[in-house]
Amino acid sequence: MSSGATCIILTGFSGSGKTAVGRRVARLLGWEFADTDEIVARRAGKEIDRIFADDGEQAFRALELEAVREASSRKGIVVSTGGGAIAQEATRRVMLDAGLVVCLEARPETIYARLTAPAPADGAEAMVRPLLRATHGQDPLRRIESLKRERQWAYALAEWTVPTDGLSVEQVAHEVARAWRRFGMSSQWRGDSQVAATVTTDAGAYPIVVGFDIIEAQLASRLLQTGFAGRAYLLVDSNVLHPYGRSAQRSLHAAGIETHLFVFPAGEESKSLATATAVYEWLAERRVERRDLIVTVGGGVAGDLGGFVAATYVRGVRYAQVPTTLTAMVDSSIGGKTAVDLPAGKNLVGAFHHPTLVVSDVSALRTLPRRVVLEGWAEAIKHGFALDAGLVDVYEQQADALLALEPELTAEVVARNAAVKARIVTQDERETSGLRSLLNYGHTIGHGLETAAGYGRYLHGEAVAVGMVGAARLGELAGVTPAELARRQRALLERFGLPTGYRDVDAERILDAVTRDKKSSGGQVSWVFLDAVGRSSIHRGVTQEQVRQVLGELAG
Ligand SMILES: NC(=O)c1ccc[n+]([C@@H]2O[C@H](COP(=O)([O-])OP(=O)(O)OC[C@H]3O[C@@H](n4cnc5c(N)ncnc54)[C@H](O)[C@@H]3O)[C@@H](O)[C@H]2O)c1
Ligand SMILES: [Zn+2]
Repeated sequence: MSSGATCIILTGFSGSGKTAVGRRVARLLGWEFADTDEIVARRAGKEIDRIFADDGEQAFRALELEAVREASSRKGIVVSTGGGAIAQEATRRVMLDAGLVVCLEARPETIYARLTAPAPADGAEAMVRPLLRATHGQDPLRRIESLKRERQWAYALAEWTVPTDGLSVEQVAHEVARAWRRFGMSSQWRGDSQVAATVTTDAGAYPIVVGFDIIEAQLASRLLQTGFAGRAYLLVDSNVLHPYGRSAQRSLHAAGIETHLFVFPAGEESKSLATATAVYEWLAERRVERRDLIVTVGGGVAGDLGGFVAATYVRGVRYAQVPTTLTAMVDSSIGGKTAVDLPAGKNLVGAFHHPTLVVSDVSALRTLPRRVVLEGWAEAIKHGFALDAGLVDVYEQQADALLALEPELTAEVVARNAAVKARIVTQDERETSGLRSLLNYGHTIGHGLETAAGYGRYLHGEAVAVGMVGAARLGELAGVTPAELARRQRALLERFGLPTGYRDVDAERILDAVTRDKKSSGGQVSWVFLDAVGRSSIHRGVTQEQVRQVLGELAG
């Protein structure tokens, strides 16, 4: 959003109430209102579905782009856009440059109920019919679900999201106006921070904010934007109390939020039931209530531990994450998996519990030990090869700047990684459709190597790097992964100082650990292979012999 803009642009699926809400927001702020679908229909002299039928989607998109550009160039205006506008690259760019882009979210059931209500909400009716008519024999609710899922990645790019389920038009309009008053007017929104993505879950949606030097300046205000109005309980890794824990504390104090602090000893050993119990007791002594909030500051250990405590204490309190490692920023802070370890194994006791906010300050990476930064890049490189080809280009072209943690570029790349994971998690929250499993690319051999070498010898990301090389080679043997792609991946991993083979570990022990991997199903191990750059899929039926051969090749 450009500073000084006085424009709010609404996006969201049909039936999310953009038109009705937009009109109401305009009245609240004393602004104009425009609906781009109405502009397009007026210009073309026919209804939207007629334009689609007569002239095709492309013609409609061109008219829509013009309408968005024109409406959003005015000052003091609320613009409601069509459900697919933000998914068009050129249109999206215009929207994000022109004003504050707010997405109205609703669950498919809510949308269906609104679209089929006897007296549809103002403005909804025009969109109802084409949507419900074009069901192609599919159950309309399923149709809404699948269409919405296809578009969710684009809605996640909005700068603010208002969950509208159970709210009236009036209430939603007040939420939008409140968002505008809080930060729409300030230029702080863009430049030093951005909402990288929004994760939408069964329980609601939450933003991931990425920026440089933003903990003190933004943590409290971002929390207040989520509707938080209780006390804050900071759970901080001892290595990062100075300076990040203190920055978080100052931010909360300055906003007048009552804040308490618990510092736990850094390290994986703290991801235990013993530490969780100590935190429960601390919370109980302070009579923590549902409206209060835990804020974790640290890497994946802080997030997993704090998230687990938040999931279980009084059957669930809210929590926010301030990740300070690259791994936590691109991976562990997103997706709602929380856990502690048992002597019998890692992450054995856990729960799905999403944070209400993630604030990633990439300036924290400057104090992170080099080796820990590099292992974080392994997960980021994984996102590229498995899911986002454009990221691989950026890594290749900007490796030096990324390795030097150049602020703006690093923030941008971390944001894009967060968006990749957010998109997957939004589409497959509980790992049921197989999509979320693609994030396990490189992890089958990776976990095997970690186990066989003894935890600690290889950092997790290092083992994953070796696992990616192994998976690419197995994919090659299966005729799925092009040899050139495997070569490209290996070169990039090396460029980021990551291992591409292992040493002094017994291959048979790795093989043993791989076959016992928890991701195996029906006795067969599931493998994620690359089909092309940025595209991956799941395969079974890889033989022991093939794995043995590849483990032999990886031994250096
Ligand atoms: N929940 C998930 O989806 C998920 C995903 C991946 C990993 N994980 C979990 O995350 C954990 C690993 O996370 P991690 O790699 O962030 O480890 P970590 O939290 O242990 O952090 C690594 C080390 O860096 C230190 N540190 C953190 N931030 C720092 C900073 N800015 N400057 C200096 N030092 C800093 C920590 O004190 C620690 O010593 C594992 O327990 C793993 O199981 C969870
Ligand atoms: Zn991992």
